[in-house]
Amino acid sequence: MTIHIITIDGPSGSGKGTLAARLAEHYAYRLLDSGALYRLLGLSLFQHNLLDNLTDEAALKQCVTIALNLDIEFKSNSQGTQVFLDGQDVSQQIRTEQVGEYASKVAAIPELRQALFERQRAFAQQPGLVADGRDMATSIFPEAQSKIYLTASAESRAERRVKQLQAMGHDVKISGILANIEARDKRDMERSVAPLKPAVDAYMIDSSDLSIDDVFELMIRYIDRS
Ligand code: DC
Repeated sequence: MTIHIITIDGPSGSGKGTLAARLAEHYAYRLLDSGALYRLLGLSLFQHNLLDNLTDEAALKQCVTIALNLDIEFKSNSQGTQVFLDGQDVSQQIRTEQVGEYASKVAAIPELRQALFERQRAFAQQPGLVADGRDMATSIFPEAQSKIYLTASAESRAERRVKQLQAMGHDVKISGILANIEARDKRDMERSVAPLKPAVDAYMIDSSDLSIDDVFELMIRYIDRS
């Protein structure tokens, strides 16, 4: 039986994470948070002191080996998902801006993207999968039956991110966050491998002026007819 795959691609702060989790719950499907994989790899390479060496061939080989053997675990409960790296709970740590930067660096390296390919494909299991990322429809699951591209203006994404970080107890300013978002968007969209862009057959949603509930309704309507 074919596995129903729903992909949600788009920039960070568009509401993808929240909506992907809601869709996975609604359909009782598995959830792939591919950004978390890049964040975990970024954190691991930082811990191994390898992040500044990504252009060195021998060091890159070592990074690929680390990527292929990453010891990670996702544990879901009613509070959300806990993420473990080498047995340590890094759920909070991987959500910081700093680890986001590490992830963005790692994500620009073709060999490291390739090393995470099979790990992502392995999430596709019955009864179905909601895959959240940047290249889910264009590279990892081109066969997906339901492809969504969710975006929002950089300003509204920065506002949401500030609220999220403040709720986590961080003291942040919108100007810094907006500059980070714009720099990361540029890097994600301009990289030569798997750049952030909609699949040709993606259903496009701009969430700038929509509530999460409105976007969820649009998605369900699209998925149920696709
Ligand atoms: O969605 P996020 O902010 O957790 O993603 C972290 C970084 O990883 C971001 O810079 C984009 C990158 N990423 C990617 O290149 N491909 C994916 N499928 C998911 C994330």
